[in-house]
Amino acid sequence: MIKVAPSLLAADPLKYGEEVASVRASGADWLHFDVMDGLFVPNISFGMGILRACASTGVFCDAHLMIADPERYIDEFAAAGAKAITVHAEACTHLHRTLAHIREKGCLAGVAFNPSTAPDCLPYVLTEADIVLVMTVNPGFGGQKLIPATVEKIGRVREMIAAAGTKTLIEVDGGVDEKTAPACVRQGANVLVAGSAFFRAKDREAFVRALREAE
Ligand code: DX5
Ligand code: ZN
Repeated sequence: MIKVAPSLLAADPLKYGEEVASVRASGADWLHFDVMDGLFVPNISFGMGILRACASTGVFCDAHLMIADPERYIDEFAAAGAKAITVHAEACTHLHRTLAHIREKGCLAGVAFNPSTAPDCLPYVLTEADIVLVMTVNPGFGGQKLIPATVEKIGRVREMIAAAGTKTLIEVDGGVDEKTAPACVRQGANVLVAGSAFFRAKDREAFVRALREAE
């Protein structure tokens, strides 16, 4: 079953309460939460205060940390109520240890790869990873076009997970909409992040249904 994870980054900041309620009403599975530090990526977004407020509604918060040395903030995001925490392979000196740390906090542990990063470290960390997040745009901004070359990487990751025999989910993030989702799902994606496409959809419930049925 495909999970759909609307990204709060594309929501109206003056209406976060209503937007989170609308995400829940749409039948989406997770609320994707894009944390940016102005260092690992050029943009700055929001942090644990906003996440805590969103998590207090009961929505499953999927924190995507686009921050340098994310190890420093695992405890705080877990305490704020994140249910999944994903860190970038490019930002971690000790990726295996950081993923284990996330699990110790009771969260799903995710590892993300930028479009230009080969997922070659996966065989060494998959036993610690509940999620592999394949970035289909360069992280930092919503509303970008999916980079076609990243779609093939989803299939490579699926093969690596099959070889390791783990139940790791494959999440795709960036430029995902009704048109681009099917190719991602065919390659093995099972969690679809959608920011702009979800929040601009006239019928958000129908959008979630369409993504879930993408193949
Ligand atoms: C990009 C973020 C994405 C982004 C997705 O840095 O990680 O989650 O918000 O937004 P769309 O769906 O608009 O590409
Ligand atoms: Zn994201």
